Amino acid sequence: MNILVTGGAGYIGSVVAEELVHAGHEVLVYDSLYKGHRRAVVDGVQLITGDLMDNERLGHTLKASKVEGVVHLAADSLVGESVISPGKYYNNNVTAGLVLLEEMRKCEISKIVFSSTAAVYGEPQKQPIQESDPINPTNPYGETKFAFERALQWYEKAYGIHYASLRYFNAAGATDHCGEHHDPETHLIPLVLQATAGKRPFVEIYGDDYDTSDGTCIRDYIHVTDLARAHVLALDILDSRSSTYNLGCGGTGYSVREVINVATEITGRECPVRVGKRRAGDPAVLIASSDKIREELGWSPEQQSLHSIIESAWKWMRTRPNGYEE
Ligand SMILES: NC(=O)c1ccc[n+]([C@@H]2O[C@H](COP(=O)([O-])OP(=O)(O)OC[C@H]3O[C@@H](n4cnc5c(N)ncnc54)[C@H](O)[C@@H]3O)[C@@H](O)[C@H]2O)c1
Repeated sequence: MNILVTGGAGYIGSVVAEELVHAGHEVLVYDSLYKGHRRAVVDGVQLITGDLMDNERLGHTLKASKVEGVVHLAADSLVGESVISPGKYYNNNVTAGLVLLEEMRKCEISKIVFSSTAAVYGEPQKQPIQESDPINPTNPYGETKFAFERALQWYEKAYGIHYASLRYFNAAGATDHCGEHHDPETHLIPLVLQATAGKRPFVEIYGDDYDTSDGTCIRDYIHVTDLARAHVLALDILDSRSSTYNLGCGGTGYSVREVINVATEITGRECPVRVGKRRAGDPAVLIASSDKIREELGWSPEQQSLHSIIESAWKWMRTRPNGYEE
């Protein structure tokens, strides 16, 4: 198929584009590059620089390239920022998403895979989290992602656009070509690796008095290639139906201390750490169940071990000490 990947110059989108090419699709990335990187776009993929809000450019791109399906990853995704600037999140994650849906409708494109988030569940009552568990986002990031999920349901009803919404927590790791380069960086694994490499003075642990084996929070990390494969696989259902799937690491997750210990082992260097206070709204454990996508689509993570996730991220960081910059 001819697939357009919004946000395909970003971290996860670049790997989704890479996996789509491997699966034999024709791939076009649509990205404003306001956070993404031209160099993250792999060979064989065409980059169109444009903002989702530019409906004329977007519509022309969809039509001229005979796009048949869309994987939508372009978004703002910083939880803290979303609390301070909710309007920015409603604009980019909802309004710009609606521009995309309208242009898809006009071009009669009826397939979309949406990169949602497990933040839609807020602070869940039980673990691992299933798709049927209550939706209760605690910040505008999760709220706006869920608002777009709801819009997808109405667009399906009105225009027959089929969707697959994928909800997950922490993407991590790298491929040979694509890795994590965010500014600011807020994700634990790159922060820990930067601290071990001396690029930041320390990593802060937000509380070590949780009711977990070592007192630090336990989280779900999925290798970015496994996530990308799920996006590609989800395209398969869209001929006939829509669905929502969680994606989780499949195990019991990893504590902040475990991440630091494994990173220390892999890099052979100490990671300077500072233990701070708990952050408001940080549950002790957050793990998503992947049972539904395993059963329906046969997806399972192939690089589940924390070791292989951190090893790939470290390899990428050593090859590109300045990320995608010269
Ligand atoms: N990184 C994670 O751990 C994680 C976890 C759950 C969900 N997600 C979701 O996955 C998606 C990708 O996350 P990421 O970490 O790769 O983010 P990223 O910031 O690396 O990539 C997002 C890309 O979208 C582009 N973009 C943003 N707004 C745009 C617009 N209006 N028009 C055109 N391009 C635009 C940016 O330039 C960037 O290249 C996001 O939707 C995010 O909410 C990420």
